[in-house]
Amino acid sequence: MSSLRTFCQNQENLSLLGMNLEGKRVLVRVDFNCPIEGGVVTNNYRIVESLETLKLLKEKGASKIVLLTHLGRPKGEFDANFSLKPVWEELEKLWGEKVSCPSYENDYRIYARKVMEDPNEIVLWENIRFWKEEKKNDPQFAKFLAMGNDLFINEAFSASHREHASVVGVASLLPSFAGLRLGEEAREIHVLIEKDYSPSVALVGGAKIETKVPVLEALEKHYDKILLGGKIALEYESFALNNPQGGWMKKIEVPSGYLGEEKFDIDAFSANHFAEILSGAKKILWNGPVGKFEDPQYAKGSVIIAKAISQNKEAVRLVGGGDTIALLDSLNLRNEVGFVSTGGGAMLDYIANGTLPGLEVLEY
Ligand code: 3PG
Repeated sequence: MSSLRTFCQNQENLSLLGMNLEGKRVLVRVDFNCPIEGGVVTNNYRIVESLETLKLLKEKGASKIVLLTHLGRPKGEFDANFSLKPVWEELEKLWGEKVSCPSYENDYRIYARKVMEDPNEIVLWENIRFWKEEKKNDPQFAKFLAMGNDLFINEAFSASHREHASVVGVASLLPSFAGLRLGEEAREIHVLIEKDYSPSVALVGGAKIETKVPVLEALEKHYDKILLGGKIALEYESFALNNPQGGWMKKIEVPSGYLGEEKFDIDAFSANHFAEILSGAKKILWNGPVGKFEDPQYAKGSVIIAKAISQNKEAVRLVGGGDTIALLDSLNLRNEVGFVSTGGGAMLDYIANGTLPGLEVLEY
């Protein structure tokens, strides 16, 4: 994890804090990819976590702040279901002042000009994934994102595993720095992972085990036991049969039973067994609920896990991922589980690779 260490050390002198931004126009990549129901943001954690940086930019005299975020996974064109309207309203509420979000234009050159000429202090681009060039990290698109701005700040740790124009492309065009929260996440995750405490347990939920093998291999180096929950646990059995035995597999434990035919939750016995293991651990990593927790009849397993982790105050604990945060917030436990990363996939990739594309490109 050497590049990670370098990043963390350099971040000690976070350039943002010492900068004079009088009259500067600052482009900020945030991750406002929040859960939304009925046109309303149901969990605003990611927005709240970016506010400190935005306030600091204003205090330091920035004349304009331009925000970039994605929301969901639209297909590279406008889709009203993924419009930033709910996020924009939530941001305005939290910020307490007008935020502008110009209406969408198919031609990103026209849109970029609208944003540049917008007289408001804070301007939000519509969902950056409405332009297919974003995911391709198209250099021309990145140029238009950067247009009219003096510097770039990445305050989107949770999106920094994506090699997209708004994360990586713009950073090579403007002087670019880490946001306060991003710097904190990179440092904290590094420190917590490296702690040599035993017994140590990682609990990973989610799906697509093939994509998580590098992560599981990295976790093997830092944790004594790896518990799997959710879909990934169901996938594990056939994966293990069809793939060569990796060292990490020796540390895996999957639930012994599930609820219902569709197995949308782990059964009470497995949940209590996992909870017991987590209660005795000195170091814990948790990413991802163990069931389809949005549906109350399948939330029990995840609730038992969340409670066990929140009660084990002895352990160093690292928790991350949008779903995990939403679950914790529904139980009022987010402040009881140790360090909470905004990132799910990003946190796991960071652990696996020791860095992320969006961090690599920052000057600090
Ligand atoms: C997340 O929710 O993990 C981030 O916002 C990244 O979203 P993505 O997986 O759609 O790139």
